[in-house]
Amino acid sequence: MKDRKTIIVSNRLPVRVEIKDEEWNYHQSEGGLATGLGSMFKEGNNVWIGWPGASIPDQRIRQIITRDFRAQHLYPVMLSPEEIEHYYDGFSNDTLWPLFHYFPSYANYDPEDWEYYQAVNQKFADAVLDIAEPGDIIWIQDYQLMLVPEMVRRANPGVTVGFFQHIPFPSYEVFRLLPWRDALLKGLMGADLIGFHTFDDVRHFMSAAMRIANTQSNANEIVLDDRSVVVDAFPMGIDYEKYRDNVLNSKTKRNEHKLHQLMGDKKLMIAIDRLDYSKGIPQRLEAFELFLRDNPQFREQVIFLQLVVPSRDTVKQYATLKEEINRLVSEINAKYGSLSWQPIHYFYRSFPIEMLSALYASADIALVTPVRDGMNLVCKEYIASRLDKTGVLILSEMAGASKELYEALQINPTDKQAVAAAIREALLMPEAEQIRRMEALQQTVERFNIHHWVSNFMEKLNEVKHKQEQLS
Ligand code: UDP
Ligand code: G6P
Repeated sequence: MKDRKTIIVSNRLPVRVEIKDEEWNYHQSEGGLATGLGSMFKEGNNVWIGWPGASIPDQRIRQIITRDFRAQHLYPVMLSPEEIEHYYDGFSNDTLWPLFHYFPSYANYDPEDWEYYQAVNQKFADAVLDIAEPGDIIWIQDYQLMLVPEMVRRANPGVTVGFFQHIPFPSYEVFRLLPWRDALLKGLMGADLIGFHTFDDVRHFMSAAMRIANTQSNANEIVLDDRSVVVDAFPMGIDYEKYRDNVLNSKTKRNEHKLHQLMGDKKLMIAIDRLDYSKGIPQRLEAFELFLRDNPQFREQVIFLQLVVPSRDTVKQYATLKEEINRLVSEINAKYGSLSWQPIHYFYRSFPIEMLSALYASADIALVTPVRDGMNLVCKEYIASRLDKTGVLILSEMAGASKELYEALQINPTDKQAVAAAIREALLMPEAEQIRRMEALQQTVERFNIHHWVSNFMEKLNEVKHKQEQLS
């Protein structure tokens, strides 16, 4: 079993290609799945199957890009513009994403999108079956590929399949709205182990499986005719050492120095998100405005730097959100700014890690206020980057991370008064109190890091498989 490998399968590869005319560039992918798993997959002879993030019509360029990816153990699955439109923009991000993040009124139920979702899931399953060898572990990631576990098992019943969902699993009452709910549950149950970030997600999934698919269950085990499926919580962590050490990198230091020059003696508050309505960006901007309105003594004293990473902006709700953020930022800046002070510094782009690390290391406050988030890794990256242990994390109760990070200032993100009050509390918090909280947060994030997450999941998967083999 020397060559036994783990095949990671996700919609997006950790490297994305950006292509214009005959020219192309490679970039690190953004988003928690890619940044989190990106550091561990290089171990051993693991491989990663996924989409490189752009459609590449030219056959010759496709071949070159495929060769470049393969050299890094990445197996690209190419998608046509129609597949991107219906499977990625459509079913994944205009049906599943809003529904699973409790935005049912944003969800579209388009049978054509569903057809594409099935076909593209089969394409991913075929890519897995092409390279899987006996003994390999297949680890499928996230909501874009919920049918793949069953598709792989149908073709090869003996395989070991794990599935991890990086976004919430909603309550039965919301999940049942999906016209294709049975098929999705059946797809997932092709896995031996299904993981979620939190116990609430596990509970919701078990309840949906029992009530919709009529499964028999035994604690966190679903008993099928021929085998059982274990469902459990594995809160994802970060590569703690990488983020800690990055602060000491010379490029990060240079960026930090520039930031300090820009800030003078003002306080820096940061927020870093992909463009997404689940991240609560407009609500946060409104809370900041409320803070400025009610705390005039802090005007000119604090700068709020909001970084939004472009994401899915071909989907209508995302495009609308982008406009709303533009409008709010300019209104607040126009209303409260002065010749010497701009309250909000807004960037709509992605930054290299050395800039992110400089922001984490310089920020007196990190505002992480999603209205719903499976986990949220940005808050953990902020904690890991606080080498002197100062800094305050304001964290939404609706992020999976809130179940671990008790020492953060936790708020309900829709309660703008509470967010404004938390900003004030953070600005006034004595250093000793900041350090007490940050030390505890660092212990949690350092201990439950990405390596811990991967090994926990893999150990459980091996245990489940072993038990199944003994029973068969
Ligand atoms: N990120 C990035 N480039 C940026 C801004 C953010 O790579 O310019 C990363 C960030 O470091 C984090 C991830 O994007 O690892 C966001 O993950 P999170 O779990 O917070 O949210 P998601 O985007 O997965 O919903
Ligand atoms: C979230 C999802 C990931 C996704 C990431 C970025 O973290 O759970 O599956 O990769 O967002 O979104 P994108 O659509 O750009 O891949």
